[in-house]
Amino acid sequence: MVCIQYTVSLWLQRVLGATPTVPVGNISQVEDAVYFRIYYGQTFKVIKNSIDGKSYLLIQNNTKTATRTKYCTGRIKSFVIPLSNYSIDTQDFPGVPVSFFELLGLLGNLKGITSDSVTSECLLKSCAGGDIAIVNKSDDQQLTQFAAHFISNSDQQEACNFAMFLPSAEDTPLQRAEWIKYLGVFANMEVRANQVYDEVKQNYMCLTNAASSKSASFKPVVAWIQYSEGVWYFTDEAYKMKYVQDAGGENVDESINRNTYNISIPDDLENFHAILCTVDVVIDETSVDDSTQYTLATFLRNINVDDESCFAFLTNQNVWRYDKRIHNSTAIDWFDGAISQPQLVLGDLYEAFFPTGNYITTYFRNLAKEEGIVSVGPEMCNRQSSAAMEPILVPCQ
Ligand SMILES: *[C@@H]1O[C@H](CO)[C@@H](O)[C@H](O)[C@H]1NC(C)=O
Ligand SMILES: *[C@@H]1O[C@H](CO)[C@@H](O)[C@H](O)[C@H]1NC(C)=O
Ligand SMILES: *[C@@H]1O[C@H](CO)[C@@H](O)[C@H](O)[C@H]1NC(C)=O
Ligand SMILES: *[C@@H]1O[C@H](CO)[C@@H](O)[C@H](O)[C@H]1NC(C)=O
Ligand SMILES: *[C@@H]1O[C@H](CO)[C@@H](O)[C@H](O)[C@H]1NC(C)=O
Ligand SMILES: *[C@@H]1O[C@H](CO)[C@@H](O)[C@H](O)[C@H]1NC(C)=O
Repeated sequence: MVCIQYTVSLWLQRVLGATPTVPVGNISQVEDAVYFRIYYGQTFKVIKNSIDGKSYLLIQNNTKTATRTKYCTGRIKSFVIPLSNYSIDTQDFPGVPVSFFELLGLLGNLKGITSDSVTSECLLKSCAGGDIAIVNKSDDQQLTQFAAHFISNSDQQEACNFAMFLPSAEDTPLQRAEWIKYLGVFANMEVRANQVYDEVKQNYMCLTNAASSKSASFKPVVAWIQYSEGVWYFTDEAYKMKYVQDAGGENVDESINRNTYNISIPDDLENFHAILCTVDVVIDETSVDDSTQYTLATFLRNINVDDESCFAFLTNQNVWRYDKRIHNSTAIDWFDGAISQPQLVLGDLYEAFFPTGNYITTYFRNLAKEEGIVSVGPEMCNRQSSAAMEPILVPCQ
């Protein structure tokens, strides 16, 4: 790594013809994430993003290079930092998670979003107060007025000020959360980014250890399933499997050989029910237009059973959905806040797997206990929007 760092710096030093003038100061090091790397020169930094294959060359605003140099090629894009303003694409699915910007205290410089279908209380408050414009995603002229426009989709037609931010590409919860360092680099906020990540990781690891000792005597079997047009699917996304392991559970997928079950086919239905009979905890991911209307009755109708007696997850009331925190029935915070604060997701799952009854979950609601949603709105913002949001740590010895 040292060797690559040296080479990249040397190459850029030559490209830019820059003489060192200002020290970059504190740095971030990537420990867990696999899709980006950060390199430091004297007056600039480079993020190598291996999802879009681009090098982001970030030049300090108080250097001569900042006014002289502009890169916008297939391989290199340059930005002057710290960003004086920026916009984010909140419309794509999944959109850019806003919560990372909040943890760094960057909402003050956010000037545009492409949709107000977001799950951040404080962003909603800023929008209501007129501090942030809703810009038309299809209108390039509107998007290029910002120093940077953060996007989550690599297929998007790319203007020079577009920067990709895609934590959800990573395979584990901590790797996803570590993308806070990627943003920190754009804002010279490395110290804050490191601090948040360290706190999140420490809390996450503490919970993992607690779960590991709990699960020595009993490991609940967990299935993530979703229903679409008559077919049930077992999901096998890596980060979800990792959450189950880290919370002390066992993934059902290790023992089944098929992922799809068509409930109109009697054999399929029979097999699906047989597998469900071995499951202790169900996480129903079925996507719907209106989460508020999805109840235990909906779930039971979809799994199509007459006799519920063999299902441990019903007897023990363990049927969950991750749509507890939503805005306007549609935007789900699972795709935003849960990515930057995986310790809260782990805390929820730990409670689902080893219930204490005195822990209030953040992202998951228990259908079997008829738990409803929490509707996120601007009135719930309890700080100045531009102030940094503190990570919430789960009690853990
Ligand atoms: C790095 O951060 C630490 C803690 O905030 C601070 O004490 C130190 O002065 C910083 N170093 C530089 C070079 O900015
Ligand atoms: C550089 O950015 C800092 C922090 O945003 C700002 O205070 C300063 O005025 C900027 N300097 C220039 C030359 O733009
Ligand atoms: C957004 O911009 C596109 C392209 O310029 C235009 O066709 C469309 O009507 C605009 N939409 C709105 C809601 O203004
Ligand atoms: C954003 O900052 C750039 C300079 O970095 C400035 O030219 C532009 O007018 C600003 N845009 C907005 C919408 O504030
Ligand atoms: C499920 O099975 C029924 C009956 O065989 C069939 O008509 C339907 O197309 C199947 N659905 C899917 C999504 O394959
Ligand atoms: C809620 O969503 C609907 C449909 O997407 C939209 O028409 C409505 O304006 C939204 N309401 C608010 C308060 O955002």
